Amino acid sequence: MKNIAIFASGSGSNAENIIRYFDAHPLIRIDSVWSNKKDAFVLERSTRLGVEAHSFSRADLTESNILLTELKRRNIDLIVLAGFLWLVPKTLVQNFKIVNIHPALLPAYGGKGMFGDHVHQAVIAAKEVVSGITIHLIDEEYDKGEVLLQAKCPVLPDDTPGTLAARIHQLEYEHFPVVIEKYVMDNLLSK
Ligand code: GRF
Repeated sequence: MKNIAIFASGSGSNAENIIRYFDAHPLIRIDSVWSNKKDAFVLERSTRLGVEAHSFSRADLTESNILLTELKRRNIDLIVLAGFLWLVPKTLVQNFKIVNIHPALLPAYGGKGMFGDHVHQAVIAAKEVVSGITIHLIDEEYDKGEVLLQAKCPVLPDDTPGTLAARIHQLEYEHFPVVIEKYVMDNLLSK
């Protein structure tokens, strides 16, 4: 059995979709959900779905080994970032495989400040006609790890960040769990 820890900062609709997808999976289980915000809705969603949920502080993440030690103790094989807004410190990058989802077609609209609605606002302001999602590994340069999948959707003339975000979320729900599953099956099962 391979163990996944999900990191998320917000509502957690992707986290929920991933938890539901792997429910009763024979080889992959969602061990726990972790948030940098104590009141993030993702914690409530996960608990309701029967998955352990915890929050942590910036100091826990960057100034101590608490999180690293706990994730190792739990035999975590993969960390999935599903709307996680902080930079992941090197210690975690060096110790775990980490997959992230970005709501645009990297390398465009990535990097500092490019998260959530800021991304969709920038895409609309640039009058792009296509946007999409990028699912990628995290290496020490945040948005620059190996791309596992990109999928596209149209940007419509009357889109707002909200309508574009909704279309992007549909793509995320369709692809993210499948890409995670494939990554684990292809790369982690033999270890
Ligand atoms: C997603 O669009 C994800 O790509 C981005 O943040 C959003 C999180 O949404 N990084 P949710 O919390 O999963 O609903």
